[in-house]
Amino acid sequence: MAKRVVLAYSGGLDTSVAVHWLQKERGLEVVAVACDVGQGGDFDAIRERALAAGAIDAVVIDAREELARDFVIPALQANAMYEGRYPLVSALSRPVIVRHLVEQARIYGADGVAHGCTGKGNDQVRFEVGTRALGPDLEIVAPVRDWGMTREETIDYAERESLPITATRDRIYSIDENLWGRAIECGVIEDPWESPPLDVYTLTNETATEPVEVTISFVAGVPIALNGANLDLVQLIAQLDKIAGACGFGRIDIVENRRVGIKSREVYESPAALALIMAHHDLEALCLERDVMHEKARLEPRFADLIYDGMWYSPLRQAISAFVAETQHHVTGDVRLRFSPGGGAVVAGRRSPFALYDYGLATYDAADTFRHQDAEGYVRIYGLGITTWASRQSDADVGLSK
Ligand code: ARG
Repeated sequence: MAKRVVLAYSGGLDTSVAVHWLQKERGLEVVAVACDVGQGGDFDAIRERALAAGAIDAVVIDAREELARDFVIPALQANAMYEGRYPLVSALSRPVIVRHLVEQARIYGADGVAHGCTGKGNDQVRFEVGTRALGPDLEIVAPVRDWGMTREETIDYAERESLPITATRDRIYSIDENLWGRAIECGVIEDPWESPPLDVYTLTNETATEPVEVTISFVAGVPIALNGANLDLVQLIAQLDKIAGACGFGRIDIVENRRVGIKSREVYESPAALALIMAHHDLEALCLERDVMHEKARLEPRFADLIYDGMWYSPLRQAISAFVAETQHHVTGDVRLRFSPGGGAVVAGRRSPFALYDYGLATYDAADTFRHQDAEGYVRIYGLGITTWASRQSDADVGLSK
């Protein structure tokens, strides 16, 4: 049995109660580790709350750059969207948090890692499989899964034990947020037929009355500038969230297949993520050779599944990332996106110094350089098998109507 654990601490109800519960019910010393992954909030207050709940120490780690560089960039380069629609917001933050949990466990001489996930979700899978990859000797402790209290009962427990919580008894949303977006669950949106009430949204609104155009510049598959101004990725995402979010762009409302077999209704807001993926994907169409692009497209859903399923620290994820990275050397150029009030967005233009688009080959004007005479024989041979097959069939068998 573990004696000391590092707990992935958010400052919310469950993890605050967990600090106390692990100590009281399990006799464990708890080091609270709060990672800033771009969710916002007052981290001094979060640290104080952990200590007030009984943590022997509380650490705050700014993991935003790391999340952007090591996790968001590979995901963007893979155009990663789970089930084609979810840009993996929560799934991408878990491996960076796990990295810090394991690091802090070593620093504090802890022999276990604890998280506040329930038994019904994907996040427990991501925390635990990730921890077993980076720190296989560490015991895993899942207090929220073990105690089986409802939210009401958890609040009752906190009040009985005089814990410093700020939770209300309203039926509220469960929110997970980071720089790549927000995930909203629970409350009224658990009925998939109900439209999400407007109060679920904080990154998107309908304030814009005119379309807005932005230019996103990429170098080797990495977004480096917005409207010509160089920005680091964390800032670029924040600014793009504002511009796109003001047009109502970035809302996702889906029924999603969890790893654990449950279908759940999920609402997300990811203006910058969706915009960057749209722009990046479009630039690839200009810069990637056809076979590379098609093969990459085959791997992308597999990559998204691996991240969703908690397999960031796996050899297949590494191998696919290596392939993706190899494709990005010339994904350099600018993409113009136009957002319309009401949530629409289109790619309005793209250009690249490495464009494989060749005007001479493409044009129907006088500048045409294409060798038209080559086409006749090429097409005859390309279709030769079909020509031979069809000559042996009846007209009806080939598909000619009777
Ligand atoms: N369904 C999403 C995912 O599995 C979002 C999870 C949100 N997590 C949360 N604790 N509210 O990635």
